[in-house]
Amino acid sequence: MELSEKTIEHFRNPQNVGEMENPEGLGTITNPVCGDLTKLYLRVRGGVVEDAKFLSFGCAVTIASASVLTEKIKGKEISQLLSGSDDEIISRLIGLIESELGEIPAAKLHCPPATVQAFLEAMAGYMEKERDPQFSSRIKGLIPLVSSYYKRGEEEEG
Ligand code: FES
Repeated sequence: MELSEKTIEHFRNPQNVGEMENPEGLGTITNPVCGDLTKLYLRVRGGVVEDAKFLSFGCAVTIASASVLTEKIKGKEISQLLSGSDDEIISRLIGLIESELGEIPAAKLHCPPATVQAFLEAMAGYMEKERDPQFSSRIKGLIPLVSSYYKRGEEEEG
């Protein structure tokens, strides 16, 4: 399977690439499957994600995933992004990326989860500092749960 047109489009013209000074949240994740690094920065005002940026030393799918996620979370209320059960939150965030990118080759299914983990880490950091340390621990606890999404490619490749 080849990369979808949307993936190629976001890879060639990624949105929100760059660093952010004094972000409210910063998540840095090394993909456990391939070792590629993604950093995601958040600017949060009044409970709303005002801006998001990323840096990625990863493949086309990871760059496209971070481009999509940073676009989709901008302007969203945190309560909207992080409501529901653990599974609902994780599948919502994965879904934001994958519904935009379309089908992803099995060998690349381990790429989008790293972006989701970077976002959760950034959000947990923001919550811990500024809002709700208890909710921060819950969000941090979701990061290892995203690992099941890394294994999808292995299952499909057999
Ligand atoms: Fe490493 Fe996609 S992020 S192969």
